[in-house]
Amino acid sequence: MSKTAIVTGGSRGIGAAISIALKNAGYTVAANYAGNDEAAAKFTAETGIRTFKWSVADYEACAAGVKQVEAELGPVAVLVNNAGITRDAMFHKMTPAQWKEVIDTNLTGVFNMAHCVWNGMRDRKFGRIVNISSVNGQKGQAGQANYSAAKAGDIGFTRALAQEGARAGITVNVVAPGYIGTDMVKAIDEKVLNERIIPQIPVGRLGEPEEIARAVVFLAADDAGFITGSTISANGGQFFS
Ligand code: CAA
Repeated sequence: MSKTAIVTGGSRGIGAAISIALKNAGYTVAANYAGNDEAAAKFTAETGIRTFKWSVADYEACAAGVKQVEAELGPVAVLVNNAGITRDAMFHKMTPAQWKEVIDTNLTGVFNMAHCVWNGMRDRKFGRIVNISSVNGQKGQAGQANYSAAKAGDIGFTRALAQEGARAGITVNVVAPGYIGTDMVKAIDEKVLNERIIPQIPVGRLGEPEEIARAVVFLAADDAGFITGSTISANGGQFFS
């Protein structure tokens, strides 16, 4: 029987590529999304992957969402915490609301989802959690004090949880993408992107969502059980850690 995977933010951008790659690798995939009903419906129509709507920032909604997925698709063996938002601003202009929204989704959302699948994974003695961080969590980025803090937090969270999950057959790892050609990156001012960001990427281009998905499928595999607490960087050589 195929294993069930939840991909948060799984109907668009990097998440959509991860959902598709996991489906192609034989998983039954539940693609979570928070807001864009139209994109979710289109994604399901094109891929046959079911979508489930809840906000990862809301613990009760995560608990209900995981329960629904498990009832309809089976116990969750793989969780990919991909959902993320940006509220970029230089720090002197950043509002408390911009800080809170990013922390609630990009960091607390990872806690919420992992917490809701954790006991089931422990009971079944198997689990794969892959947290999507960012090069900007590794190196920091001007204009992203909120995002960099959350994404760095995801790495610390992963390293702690990897130690707790190890004896229960649960691995917890990070994939840290660089700048990938998604709506999030395309929202950056074109001048900033072309003049300040792309010149810092040695391969000379944005990454493709599929180039992140391939690392996630690798970490989700049954025979990846000895890899835990690690961070795979996929950033075109922009930063080495
Ligand atoms: N380091 C230091 N100072 C910088 C800087 C940097 N990297 N970038 C800009 N500044 C300075 C500018 O020189 C400018 O200084 P002066 O006022 O003295 O001239 C000041 O900061 C303001 O810069 P902007 O004119 O750009 O300010 P803004 O308010 O119009 O825009 C911003 C601010 C929205 C943060 C914009 O700079 C921006 O979009 N930067 C890119 C941020 C970024 O990389 N975001 C990643 C989004 S994609 C993502 O997050 C996915 C992922 O995981 C990689």
